[in-house]
Amino acid sequence: MIQLIRGFKDVLPGEVELWQMVEKTAAGLFDGFGFKEIRVPLMERTELFARSIGEGTDIVEKEMYTFADRKGEMITLRPEATASVVRAYIQHKLYAAEPVRKFYTIGPMFRRERPQKGRYRQFYQINAEVFGVAAPAMDAQLIYMLVTLLKALSVPDIHVHLNSLGCPDCRPGYKAALEAYAEKAMAALCEDCRRRKSQNALRLLDCKVPGCRDAMADAPSLQDYLCNECKLHFSEVKAHLQQVGISYLIDKRLVRGLDYYTRTTFEIQTGALGAQNAVAGGGRYDGLVAALGGPDTPAIGFAIGFDRLTETTALRNQALETPPDVFIVALGDECRQRAFLWSCELSRSGIRTEMDFSGRSLKALMKRANRLQSRYVLIFGESELENKMVLLRDMSNSEQFEIRMDGIVAEVSRKLQRD
Ligand code: HAM
Repeated sequence: MIQLIRGFKDVLPGEVELWQMVEKTAAGLFDGFGFKEIRVPLMERTELFARSIGEGTDIVEKEMYTFADRKGEMITLRPEATASVVRAYIQHKLYAAEPVRKFYTIGPMFRRERPQKGRYRQFYQINAEVFGVAAPAMDAQLIYMLVTLLKALSVPDIHVHLNSLGCPDCRPGYKAALEAYAEKAMAALCEDCRRRKSQNALRLLDCKVPGCRDAMADAPSLQDYLCNECKLHFSEVKAHLQQVGISYLIDKRLVRGLDYYTRTTFEIQTGALGAQNAVAGGGRYDGLVAALGGPDTPAIGFAIGFDRLTETTALRNQALETPPDVFIVALGDECRQRAFLWSCELSRSGIRTEMDFSGRSLKALMKRANRLQSRYVLIFGESELENKMVLLRDMSNSEQFEIRMDGIVAEVSRKLQRD
């Protein structure tokens, strides 16, 4: 038997209802904050991700599904959505009529990481991206929207981790200080960190190897190197968060795994996830639109790990799968033929209808209706046909009603809508 690819998964009925509910809740909330849905392709030119996420990142260095198509063009299954949304914003000049644009997009991403609980090679994200707003109030509002959604979806034990990564004016000074610090700690660093020291020193801060974490524990903090504008921006973000009652933790190690960030970065962690504890992450990327050929445009966004959200929400224990409203038990060829039409019409009118076409006995069909937990059963056999009546059985209390065969669809619809 051919099995799933490692790190990929199926979302089956029983769980998919939770996914639909999450999507609906997110879309409803985002709408209130002025976000419009955008859908971007699953594949892009490799160069788009290499240039935006950064050549020296784990994602671009080791995790992308990249291949040459039949004409030799290098393409990549998207490891994230931000780069594609930025490309679309530039390509379709979405800034032309109104520079402030807010988008959300939901869909699968692909990263060839080592699979474990909460980490998959195809995973899903809910992304929100804002273009054209430089004000720190936007950062706070976006985090407020994100936390509101996670709370509405009963994700337990959430903590907002916050940092500022500075800007092209102040970050080089910090990087130099960090490199100098790392130079002294060199002997204790892992091979990846040694290599990255001069390529992208910020990466040294989020290496998960315990030896590196210890060696970098007293590394200089970016907070001490921020320029006045970045400092002011960060303090206003914090003030706005306090104003809307969002508590946060300043996390100087929070450098994120993508190179495009400037200033505010954040992650939402939950105690309910184990090692893969980030349920969402994001930040400002004020330079990316211009770097990819668009006008100079500030931007900020986040992505929620959909899989991680559904694995932690308290709602996952609720039964969301809906049973049929009515199960049709028709006995004998003629009854089955007539009831077939009713089943089509009832379904079309939005009543969850199930009919068994197999010709099995009354007992067997009633057993199936019970197993499916149908609210009502329509019973239609030879004696009912003779009397031009159909039996409607309420499965909650075993009460039965006779309904005239003519106009049965309208009658059953009326009865179910009244309940
Ligand atoms: P990211 O931190 O790489 O950011 O991913 C965001 C979230 O996606 C993570 O916090 C995690 O919940 C989930 N995630 C990432 N990798 C996996 C995986 N292998 N399996 C399961 N879940 C995963 C970004 O992708 C940025 N594009 C976020 C952003 C949007 N920044 C600005 N706008």
